[in-house]
Amino acid sequence: MPRVIELLVVRDVRAFDAPDAPLDVVVEAGRITRLGPGAANDVPRGRGLDVDGRGRWLLPGLVDLHVHLREPGFEGKEDIASGLAAAAAGGFVHVCPMPNTRPVNDGRIVTELMMSRARDVDGVSISPVGAITQGLLGSELAEMAAMRAAGARAVSDDGKCVMSAAVMRRALEYAKTHDLVVMQHAEDHTLTEGALMHEGAVSARLGLRGWPRVAEDVIVARDLLLAELTRARYHVSHLSSHVSAALVREAKSRGLAVTAEVTPHHLLLTDAALLGYDTACKVNPPLREQVDVDAMWQALLDGTIDCVATDHAPHGPLDKECELAAAAPGLIGLELCVPLLVDAARKRGFPLARLFDALSRAPSRIIGLEPTHPREGAEASFCLFDPDARWKVDRSTLRSKSMNTPFLGRELTGAIDLTVARGRVVHERGAA
Ligand code: DOR
Repeated sequence: MPRVIELLVVRDVRAFDAPDAPLDVVVEAGRITRLGPGAANDVPRGRGLDVDGRGRWLLPGLVDLHVHLREPGFEGKEDIASGLAAAAAGGFVHVCPMPNTRPVNDGRIVTELMMSRARDVDGVSISPVGAITQGLLGSELAEMAAMRAAGARAVSDDGKCVMSAAVMRRALEYAKTHDLVVMQHAEDHTLTEGALMHEGAVSARLGLRGWPRVAEDVIVARDLLLAELTRARYHVSHLSSHVSAALVREAKSRGLAVTAEVTPHHLLLTDAALLGYDTACKVNPPLREQVDVDAMWQALLDGTIDCVATDHAPHGPLDKECELAAAAPGLIGLELCVPLLVDAARKRGFPLARLFDALSRAPSRIIGLEPTHPREGAEASFCLFDPDARWKVDRSTLRSKSMNTPFLGRELTGAIDLTVARGRVVHERGAA
Protein backbone atom coordinates (compact mmCIF):
# COMPACT_ATOMS: atom_id res chain seq x y z
CA MET A 1 0.00 0.00 0.00
CA PRO A 2 1.48 3.43 -0.84
CA ARG A 3 2.53 5.51 2.16
CA VAL A 4 2.62 9.27 2.50
CA ILE A 5 5.95 10.42 1.06
CA GLU A 6 8.49 11.56 3.65
CA LEU A 7 10.83 13.12 1.11
CA LEU A 8 10.67 13.15 -2.67
CA VAL A 9 12.87 15.32 -4.83
CA VAL A 10 12.42 15.67 -8.58
CA ARG A 11 15.33 17.52 -10.17
CA ASP A 12 15.54 19.32 -13.50
CA VAL A 13 12.11 18.44 -14.78
CA ARG A 14 10.45 20.63 -17.43
CA ALA A 15 6.99 22.07 -17.57
CA PHE A 16 5.53 20.69 -20.82
CA ASP A 17 4.93 24.23 -22.05
CA ALA A 18 8.28 25.73 -20.96
CA PRO A 19 10.92 23.35 -22.28
CA ASP A 20 13.82 25.71 -21.52
CA ALA A 21 13.24 26.23 -17.80
CA PRO A 22 14.14 23.25 -15.63
CA LEU A 23 12.39 23.05 -12.28
CA ASP A 24 12.77 21.09 -9.08
CA VAL A 25 9.94 19.76 -6.94
CA VAL A 26 10.43 18.99 -3.26
CA VAL A 27 7.76 16.96 -1.46
CA GLU A 28 7.93 16.60 2.32
CA ALA A 29 5.39 14.73 4.43
CA GLY A 30 3.15 14.46 1.37
CA ARG A 31 3.10 18.20 0.62
CA ILE A 32 4.93 20.22 -2.00
CA THR A 33 7.15 22.47 0.06
CA ARG A 34 9.18 23.95 -2.80
CA LEU A 35 8.67 24.17 -6.54
CA GLY A 36 10.77 26.11 -9.02
CA PRO A 37 14.22 26.49 -10.59
CA GLY A 38 16.90 25.34 -8.12
CA ALA A 39 14.30 24.56 -5.43
CA ALA A 40 16.16 21.37 -4.45
CA ASN A 41 19.68 22.85 -4.46
CA ASP A 42 20.02 22.60 -0.70
CA VAL A 43 18.65 19.04 -0.49
CA PRO A 44 21.62 16.63 -0.52
CA ARG A 45 21.41 14.10 -3.36
CA GLY A 46 20.29 10.60 -2.56
CA ARG A 47 18.06 11.45 0.38
CA GLY A 48 14.50 10.07 0.25
CA LEU A 49 13.29 9.30 -3.25
CA ASP A 50 15.53 11.34 -5.56
CA VAL A 51 14.28 11.42 -9.15
CA ASP A 52 16.23 12.68 -12.13
CA GLY A 53 13.60 14.64 -14.04
CA ARG A 54 15.79 15.44 -17.05
CA GLY A 55 13.90 14.95 -20.29
CA ARG A 56 10.61 14.50 -18.40
CA TRP A 57 7.55 16.75 -18.37
CA LEU A 58 5.87 17.75 -15.12
CA LEU A 59 2.13 17.29 -15.59
CA PRO A 60 -0.83 17.85 -13.28
CA GLY A 61 -2.45 14.85 -11.63
CA LEU A 62 -5.06 13.76 -14.18
CA VAL A 63 -8.78 13.37 -13.47
CA ASP A 64 -11.14 11.08 -15.36
CA LEU A 65 -14.89 11.61 -15.07
CA HIS A 66 -15.80 8.36 -16.80
CA VAL A 67 -14.39 4.91 -16.02
CA HIS A 68 -15.82 1.44 -15.48
CA LEU A 69 -14.09 -0.38 -12.63
CA ARG A 70 -16.59 -3.29 -12.73
CA GLU A 71 -16.67 -3.86 -8.97
CA PRO A 72 -19.02 -5.04 -7.60
CA GLY A 73 -20.18 -7.80 -9.92
CA PHE A 74 -17.76 -8.12 -12.81
CA GLU A 75 -14.40 -8.49 -11.09
CA GLY A 76 -13.17 -10.87 -13.80
CA LYS A 77 -12.92 -7.86 -16.11
CA GLU A 78 -11.57 -5.35 -13.58
CA ASP A 79 -11.84 -4.53 -9.91
CA ILE A 80 -11.28 -1.37 -7.99
CA ALA A 81 -7.69 -2.28 -7.09
CA SER A 82 -6.66 -3.21 -10.67
CA GLY A 83 -8.60 -0.29 -12.15
CA LEU A 84 -6.92 2.18 -9.82
CA ALA A 85 -3.51 0.66 -10.60
CA ALA A 86 -4.26 1.20 -14.30
CA ALA A 87 -5.37 4.75 -13.54
CA ALA A 88 -2.15 5.49 -11.63
CA ALA A 89 -0.08 4.04 -14.48
CA GLY A 90 -1.87 6.43 -16.83
CA GLY A 91 -1.13 9.49 -14.65
CA PHE A 92 -4.62 9.74 -13.13
CA VAL A 93 -5.06 10.71 -9.49
CA HIS A 94 -8.86 10.75 -9.32
CA VAL A 95 -11.47 8.80 -11.30
CA CYS A 96 -15.26 8.50 -11.36
CA PRO A 97 -16.49 4.91 -11.67
CA MET A 98 -19.81 4.44 -13.43
CA PRO A 99 -22.75 2.72 -11.74
CA ASN A 100 -23.42 -0.11 -14.24
CA THR A 101 -22.12 -2.65 -11.75
CA ARG A 102 -23.99 -5.66 -10.29
CA PRO A 103 -25.76 -4.65 -8.14
CA VAL A 104 -26.16 -1.28 -9.80
CA ASN A 105 -24.84 1.64 -7.80
CA ASP A 106 -28.19 3.25 -7.18
CA GLY A 107 -27.97 3.73 -3.42
CA ARG A 108 -25.82 4.35 -0.39
CA ILE A 109 -24.59 0.79 0.09
CA VAL A 110 -22.83 0.32 -3.24
CA THR A 111 -21.41 3.86 -3.18
CA GLU A 112 -20.02 3.15 0.30
CA LEU A 113 -18.62 -0.19 -0.81
CA MET A 114 -16.76 1.46 -3.71
CA MET A 115 -15.43 4.22 -1.46
CA SER A 116 -14.24 1.69 1.07
CA ARG A 117 -12.45 -0.42 -1.57
CA ALA A 118 -10.71 2.71 -2.85
CA ARG A 119 -9.69 3.63 0.70
CA ASP A 120 -8.12 0.17 1.04
CA VAL A 121 -6.07 0.87 -2.10
CA ASP A 122 -5.13 4.22 -0.54
CA GLY A 123 -3.82 5.78 -3.73
CA VAL A 124 -5.89 7.16 -6.57
CA SER A 125 -9.13 8.52 -5.15
CA ILE A 126 -12.62 8.11 -6.55
CA SER A 127 -15.99 9.79 -6.71
CA PRO A 128 -18.44 7.03 -7.63
CA VAL A 129 -21.08 8.13 -10.11
CA GLY A 130 -24.49 7.13 -8.80
CA ALA A 131 -27.29 5.93 -11.03
CA ILE A 132 -29.97 8.38 -12.12
CA THR A 133 -32.69 5.75 -11.93
CA GLN A 134 -33.08 2.63 -9.83
CA GLY A 135 -31.52 -0.37 -11.55
CA LEU A 136 -30.74 1.87 -14.57
CA LEU A 137 -34.29 1.06 -15.62
CA GLY A 138 -35.24 4.60 -16.52
CA SER A 139 -38.32 5.09 -14.37
CA GLU A 140 -37.86 5.56 -10.59
CA LEU A 141 -35.19 8.01 -9.41
CA ALA A 142 -32.29 6.50 -7.46
CA GLU A 143 -31.31 7.50 -3.91
CA MET A 144 -29.41 10.60 -4.98
CA ALA A 145 -29.21 12.29 -1.59
CA ALA A 146 -27.80 9.18 0.08
CA MET A 147 -25.26 8.63 -2.69
CA ARG A 148 -24.20 12.28 -2.50
CA ALA A 149 -23.64 11.93 1.23
CA ALA A 150 -21.58 8.76 0.64
CA GLY A 151 -19.23 10.39 -1.91
CA ALA A 152 -20.96 10.72 -5.31
CA ARG A 153 -20.59 14.03 -7.13
CA ALA A 154 -22.53 13.07 -10.25
CA VAL A 155 -25.23 10.71 -11.46
CA SER A 156 -25.59 8.81 -14.75
CA ASP A 157 -27.37 5.76 -16.16
CA ASP A 158 -24.29 5.20 -18.35
CA GLY A 159 -24.70 2.48 -20.93
CA LYS A 160 -28.37 3.41 -20.98
CA CYS A 161 -30.03 6.68 -21.80
CA VAL A 162 -32.76 8.22 -19.67
CA MET A 163 -35.37 8.01 -22.40
CA SER A 164 -38.34 9.60 -20.65
CA ALA A 165 -38.28 13.39 -20.80
CA ALA A 166 -40.41 13.51 -17.67
CA VAL A 167 -37.98 11.33 -15.71
CA MET A 168 -35.05 13.39 -17.01
CA ARG A 169 -36.73 16.60 -15.94
CA ARG A 170 -37.29 15.25 -12.43
CA ALA A 171 -33.74 13.90 -12.31
CA LEU A 172 -32.32 17.32 -13.20
CA GLU A 173 -34.46 19.02 -10.57
CA TYR A 174 -33.65 16.48 -7.88
CA ALA A 175 -29.94 16.41 -8.73
CA LYS A 176 -29.82 20.20 -8.56
CA THR A 177 -31.13 20.24 -4.99
CA HIS A 178 -28.37 17.78 -4.05
CA ASP A 179 -25.59 19.57 -5.94
CA LEU A 180 -25.04 16.67 -8.33
CA VAL A 181 -24.11 16.86 -12.01
CA VAL A 182 -26.39 14.84 -14.30
CA MET A 183 -24.35 12.97 -16.91
CA GLN A 184 -26.30 11.65 -19.85
CA HIS A 185 -25.46 8.71 -22.10
CA ALA A 186 -27.21 10.33 -25.06
CA GLU A 187 -28.73 7.58 -27.17
CA ASP A 188 -32.31 7.33 -28.31
CA HIS A 189 -32.59 3.56 -28.05
CA THR A 190 -35.51 3.45 -30.47
CA LEU A 191 -33.10 4.63 -33.18
CA THR A 192 -30.28 2.20 -32.34
CA GLU A 193 -31.96 -1.17 -31.99
CA GLY A 194 -29.66 -3.90 -33.24
CA ALA A 195 -26.98 -1.37 -34.21
CA LEU A 196 -23.37 -2.57 -34.23
CA MET A 197 -21.58 0.53 -35.44
CA HIS A 198 -22.04 4.07 -36.76
CA GLU A 199 -24.59 4.37 -39.56
CA GLY A 200 -22.82 5.54 -42.70
CA ALA A 201 -20.97 4.42 -45.79
CA VAL A 202 -18.87 1.88 -43.86
CA SER A 203 -21.86 0.21 -42.19
CA ALA A 204 -23.60 0.08 -45.57
CA ARG A 205 -20.56 -1.55 -47.14
CA LEU A 206 -20.27 -4.12 -44.36
CA GLY A 207 -24.01 -4.74 -44.34
CA LEU A 208 -24.21 -3.99 -40.61
CA ARG A 209 -27.03 -2.19 -38.84
CA GLY A 210 -25.96 1.34 -37.90
CA TRP A 211 -26.45 3.77 -34.96
CA PRO A 212 -27.07 7.11 -36.59
CA ARG A 213 -25.72 10.36 -35.20
CA VAL A 214 -29.23 11.64 -34.81
CA ALA A 215 -29.83 9.10 -32.02
CA GLU A 216 -27.34 11.11 -29.97
CA ASP A 217 -28.41 14.50 -31.29
CA VAL A 218 -32.12 14.25 -30.46
CA ILE A 219 -31.33 13.41 -26.83
CA VAL A 220 -28.73 16.17 -26.49
CA ALA A 221 -31.17 18.69 -28.02
CA ARG A 222 -34.00 17.60 -25.72
CA ASP A 223 -31.78 17.58 -22.64
CA LEU A 224 -30.43 21.05 -23.36
CA LEU A 225 -34.01 22.33 -23.31
CA LEU A 226 -34.62 20.53 -20.02
CA ALA A 227 -31.37 21.89 -18.60
CA GLU A 228 -32.49 25.38 -19.56
CA LEU A 229 -35.86 24.84 -17.89
CA THR A 230 -34.41 23.44 -14.67
CA ARG A 231 -31.12 25.42 -14.58
CA ALA A 232 -29.48 22.20 -13.41
CA ARG A 233 -25.92 21.07 -14.20
CA TYR A 234 -26.06 18.86 -17.28
CA HIS A 235 -23.09 17.00 -18.76
CA VAL A 236 -22.94 15.10 -22.05
CA SER A 237 -20.94 11.89 -21.63
CA HIS A 238 -18.74 10.61 -24.47
CA LEU A 239 -19.98 13.16 -27.01
CA SER A 240 -19.28 11.83 -30.51
CA SER A 241 -21.40 13.63 -33.09
CA HIS A 242 -20.45 16.89 -34.78
CA VAL A 243 -24.10 17.93 -34.64
CA SER A 244 -24.23 17.41 -30.86
CA ALA A 245 -21.06 19.49 -30.54
CA ALA A 246 -22.79 22.34 -32.39
CA LEU A 247 -25.84 22.03 -30.10
CA VAL A 248 -23.67 22.25 -26.98
CA ARG A 249 -21.75 25.21 -28.42
CA GLU A 250 -24.98 27.08 -29.00
CA ALA A 251 -26.30 26.24 -25.50
CA LYS A 252 -23.08 27.46 -23.90
CA SER A 253 -23.26 30.69 -25.86
CA ARG A 254 -26.60 31.28 -24.09
CA GLY A 255 -24.99 30.76 -20.69
CA LEU A 256 -26.37 27.33 -19.80
CA ALA A 257 -24.52 25.31 -17.15
CA VAL A 258 -23.75 22.61 -19.68
CA THR A 259 -20.52 20.63 -20.01
CA ALA A 260 -19.30 17.81 -22.22
CA GLU A 261 -16.56 15.23 -22.49
CA VAL A 262 -14.95 13.39 -25.40
CA THR A 263 -13.09 10.08 -25.25
CA PRO A 264 -9.62 9.44 -26.68
CA HIS A 265 -11.08 6.90 -29.12
CA HIS A 266 -13.53 9.42 -30.55
CA LEU A 267 -10.58 11.76 -31.08
CA LEU A 268 -8.39 9.11 -32.68
CA LEU A 269 -10.43 6.60 -34.67
CA THR A 270 -13.18 6.53 -37.26
CA ASP A 271 -15.71 3.88 -38.27
CA ALA A 272 -13.18 2.70 -40.87
CA ALA A 273 -11.53 0.84 -37.95
CA LEU A 274 -14.47 -1.61 -38.15
CA LEU A 275 -13.65 -2.62 -41.74
CA GLY A 276 -11.90 -5.73 -40.38
CA TYR A 277 -14.80 -6.46 -37.97
CA ASP A 278 -12.46 -5.83 -35.03
CA THR A 279 -14.56 -6.28 -31.88
CA ALA A 280 -12.07 -4.11 -29.96
CA CYS A 281 -13.48 -1.19 -31.96
CA LYS A 282 -17.10 -1.86 -31.04
CA VAL A 283 -18.10 0.85 -28.60
CA ASN A 284 -21.07 2.98 -27.59
CA PRO A 285 -21.42 5.59 -28.89
CA PRO A 286 -19.74 4.18 -31.99
CA LEU A 287 -16.64 5.43 -33.73
CA ARG A 288 -17.92 7.97 -36.23
CA GLU A 289 -16.59 9.71 -39.35
CA GLN A 290 -13.66 12.00 -40.03
CA VAL A 291 -15.98 15.03 -39.99
CA ASP A 292 -16.88 14.09 -36.40
CA VAL A 293 -13.28 13.47 -35.34
CA ASP A 294 -12.26 16.88 -36.70
CA ALA A 295 -15.25 18.49 -34.97
CA MET A 296 -14.27 16.84 -31.65
CA TRP A 297 -10.79 18.40 -31.80
CA GLN A 298 -12.24 21.78 -32.75
CA ALA A 299 -14.81 21.60 -29.93
CA LEU A 300 -12.09 20.64 -27.48
CA LEU A 301 -9.99 23.56 -28.64
CA ASP A 302 -12.72 26.18 -28.33
CA GLY A 303 -14.00 24.84 -24.99
CA THR A 304 -17.34 23.52 -26.29
CA ILE A 305 -16.08 20.17 -25.04
CA ASP A 306 -14.66 20.78 -21.59
CA CYS A 307 -12.74 17.63 -20.90
CA VAL A 308 -11.35 14.32 -22.06
CA ALA A 309 -12.68 11.24 -20.25
CA THR A 310 -11.47 7.77 -21.16
CA ASP A 311 -14.67 5.70 -20.75
CA HIS A 312 -12.24 2.94 -19.73
CA ALA A 313 -14.50 -0.09 -20.32
CA PRO A 314 -12.71 -3.37 -19.61
CA HIS A 315 -14.13 -6.56 -21.13
CA GLY A 316 -12.65 -10.06 -21.15
CA PRO A 317 -12.11 -12.57 -23.96
CA LEU A 318 -15.60 -14.06 -23.56
CA ASP A 319 -17.08 -10.66 -24.41
CA LYS A 320 -14.69 -9.75 -27.19
CA GLU A 321 -13.34 -12.89 -28.86
CA CYS A 322 -16.60 -13.55 -30.67
CA GLU A 323 -18.50 -12.21 -33.64
CA LEU A 324 -19.22 -8.49 -33.73
CA ALA A 325 -22.92 -8.89 -33.02
CA ALA A 326 -22.27 -10.77 -29.78
CA ALA A 327 -19.38 -8.58 -28.58
CA ALA A 328 -19.79 -6.19 -25.66
CA PRO A 329 -19.17 -2.53 -26.48
CA GLY A 330 -16.23 -0.68 -24.93
CA LEU A 331 -12.47 -0.46 -24.79
CA ILE A 332 -9.85 0.25 -22.17
CA GLY A 333 -8.29 3.69 -22.05
CA LEU A 334 -6.63 4.70 -18.80
CA GLU A 335 -3.09 3.60 -19.61
CA LEU A 336 -3.05 4.65 -23.25
CA CYS A 337 -4.72 8.02 -23.04
CA VAL A 338 -1.76 10.36 -22.54
CA PRO A 339 0.75 8.80 -24.97
CA LEU A 340 -1.88 8.49 -27.71
CA LEU A 341 -3.29 11.96 -27.25
CA VAL A 342 0.07 13.72 -26.92
CA ASP A 343 1.15 12.10 -30.17
CA ALA A 344 -2.09 13.05 -31.95
CA ALA A 345 -2.06 16.60 -30.54
CA ARG A 346 1.51 17.17 -31.70
CA LYS A 347 0.67 15.92 -35.19
CA ARG A 348 -2.34 18.24 -35.36
CA GLY A 349 -0.57 21.22 -33.79
CA PHE A 350 -3.15 21.11 -30.98
CA PRO A 351 -1.96 23.03 -27.88
CA LEU A 352 -0.74 20.70 -25.14
CA ALA A 353 -1.76 23.22 -22.49
CA ARG A 354 -5.38 22.84 -23.58
CA LEU A 355 -5.05 19.05 -23.68
CA PHE A 356 -3.75 18.83 -20.12
CA ASP A 357 -6.32 21.35 -18.93
CA ALA A 358 -8.97 19.03 -20.39
CA LEU A 359 -7.44 16.15 -18.44
CA SER A 360 -7.15 17.86 -15.07
CA ARG A 361 -8.46 21.33 -14.28
CA ALA A 362 -11.61 21.12 -16.42
CA PRO A 363 -12.89 17.77 -15.09
CA SER A 364 -12.05 18.84 -11.51
CA ARG A 365 -14.08 21.99 -11.99
CA ILE A 366 -17.08 20.02 -13.32
CA ILE A 367 -17.35 17.83 -10.22
CA GLY A 368 -16.13 20.43 -7.72
CA LEU A 369 -12.86 18.73 -6.89
CA GLU A 370 -9.82 20.61 -5.56
CA PRO A 371 -7.36 21.28 -8.42
CA THR A 372 -4.74 18.59 -8.87
CA HIS A 373 -1.86 20.54 -10.38
CA PRO A 374 1.41 20.85 -8.47
CA ARG A 375 1.69 23.96 -6.35
CA GLU A 376 3.58 24.96 -3.22
CA GLY A 377 1.78 24.20 0.02
CA ALA A 378 -0.65 21.73 -1.55
CA GLU A 379 -0.87 17.99 -1.02
CA ALA A 380 1.38 16.57 -3.74
CA SER A 381 -0.41 15.59 -6.90
CA PHE A 382 1.32 15.37 -10.26
CA CYS A 383 2.85 12.99 -12.75
CA LEU A 384 6.01 12.82 -14.81
CA PHE A 385 5.83 12.01 -18.50
CA ASP A 386 8.78 10.81 -20.55
CA PRO A 387 7.94 11.94 -24.09
CA ASP A 388 10.64 9.75 -25.65
CA ALA A 389 10.06 6.43 -23.87
CA ARG A 390 8.94 3.60 -26.13
CA TRP A 391 6.82 0.72 -24.92
CA LYS A 392 4.61 -2.00 -26.30
CA VAL A 393 0.97 -2.38 -25.31
CA ASP A 394 0.67 -5.94 -24.04
CA ARG A 395 -0.05 -8.09 -21.00
CA SER A 396 3.33 -7.37 -19.44
CA THR A 397 2.89 -3.59 -19.62
CA LEU A 398 -0.82 -3.17 -18.79
CA ARG A 399 -2.09 -3.02 -15.20
CA SER A 400 -5.72 -3.40 -16.21
CA LYS A 401 -7.11 -6.94 -16.02
CA SER A 402 -8.48 -6.54 -19.54
CA MET A 403 -6.71 -5.91 -22.83
CA ASN A 404 -9.60 -4.93 -25.08
CA THR A 405 -7.98 -2.21 -27.11
CA PRO A 406 -7.37 -1.86 -30.84
CA PHE A 407 -3.89 -0.64 -29.86
CA LEU A 408 -2.88 -4.03 -28.45
CA GLY A 409 0.58 -4.99 -29.72
CA ARG A 410 1.25 -1.40 -30.83
CA GLU A 411 4.55 0.30 -29.96
CA LEU A 412 3.81 3.69 -28.36
CA THR A 413 6.03 6.69 -27.74
CA GLY A 414 5.68 8.45 -24.40
CA ALA A 415 5.11 6.96 -20.97
CA ILE A 416 4.08 8.07 -17.50
CA ASP A 417 7.15 7.50 -15.33
CA LEU A 418 5.82 8.50 -11.93
CA THR A 419 2.42 9.38 -10.49
CA VAL A 420 1.95 11.07 -7.14
CA ALA A 421 -1.58 11.20 -5.72
CA ARG A 422 -2.62 12.61 -2.34
CA GLY A 423 1.02 12.81 -1.26
CA ARG A 424 1.70 9.15 -2.11
CA VAL A 425 3.71 7.58 -4.92
CA VAL A 426 1.06 5.47 -6.63
CA HIS A 427 2.99 4.52 -9.76
CA GLU A 428 6.66 4.20 -10.62
CA ARG A 429 7.36 2.92 -14.10
CA GLY A 430 9.44 -0.22 -14.03
CA ALA A 431 8.77 -0.83 -10.35
CA ALA A 432 7.10 -4.14 -9.49
O1 DOR B 1 -18.97 1.20 -25.00
C1 DOR B 1 -19.46 1.34 -23.90
N1 DOR B 1 -19.17 0.49 -22.88
N2 DOR B 1 -20.30 2.35 -23.70
C2 DOR B 1 -20.98 2.48 -22.56
O2 DOR B 1 -21.72 3.44 -22.44
C3 DOR B 1 -20.88 1.45 -21.49
C4 DOR B 1 -19.58 0.78 -21.56
C5 DOR B 1 -19.46 -0.46 -20.70
O3 DOR B 1 -19.95 -0.48 -19.58
O4 DOR B 1 -18.83 -1.42 -21.15
